[in-house]
Amino acid sequence: MLLCQTAAEMHDAYRALRNAEHTLGLVPTMGALHAGHLSLISIARTQNDAVVASIFVNPIQFGPGEDYEAYPRDFDADYSKLESAGVHALFAPSVAEMLPRGNTTFVDTGELGTRLDGASRPGHFRGVATIVARLLHIVQPDRAYFGQKDAAQIAVLRRMVRDLNFPAHLIVCPIVRESDGLALSSRNRYLAPDERRSALILSRALNAVQQLVEQGETRGEALRASLLNTFATDPLVRVDYATVVDPDTLLPLDDISHGALIAVAAWIGTTRLIDNLLLPTRA
Ligand code: PAF
Repeated sequence: MLLCQTAAEMHDAYRALRNAEHTLGLVPTMGALHAGHLSLISIARTQNDAVVASIFVNPIQFGPGEDYEAYPRDFDADYSKLESAGVHALFAPSVAEMLPRGNTTFVDTGELGTRLDGASRPGHFRGVATIVARLLHIVQPDRAYFGQKDAAQIAVLRRMVRDLNFPAHLIVCPIVRESDGLALSSRNRYLAPDERRSALILSRALNAVQQLVEQGETRGEALRASLLNTFATDPLVRVDYATVVDPDTLLPLDDISHGALIAVAAWIGTTRLIDNLLLPTRA
């Protein structure tokens, strides 16, 4: 696996991979890799001749007082996981490389970037979109892979790729869960044992909604009420949002017959977790 630490090195690697191979997939990450990231890599490997992974803990997508400093970093473990997963090149730039001094250009994600996580984490999606735009420019992939778990991030990036005519295709990969239902997240490692048990409330709330939908419920309000009823059963949990929205606009839906995103975010102690369920159009 090639290790590239500057944009110039990555450009050279991209040219070499492109010459030797045909298509290039990019899996952007912030490291602390788990089976969810590895599933993105394995899907990328089936769809491309070469795969580049990036590791960059992006300071501009963390707000003041958030966990930027504490965010788990384990470069050696990540490096071996990526090498074993068959990644061709790892792009692991420094902060100065990605955000050079005097940088004044950012991607404005508009109203869309102020919804869901964008409401509780102001500026988060501006930071995500700016760094993903840079990664797409530097790596020049044919396809870029993201997990469905970050559903609002998907909506924002899909819009950015469309609005700014990025040639890359954005590929959304399914959520990977522990056997008890907890969605994999690098932040799960912050959870104490009792919090780990409480964290299951996110997937339980989504399962309850899934059951209501299977019984024929189509009213957004009824599904929202069900989410809040589940969350109300655990005093350790503080809901950030629990909502039923259009997966593209992230605006609330009254009726889910034409598909919907059921999205939840909750604080378990000091750890904020997110999860979601994508409902297809009803036949
Ligand atoms: O989903 C993530 O891990 C990050 O938001 C991303 C896409 C790597 C941008 O920093």
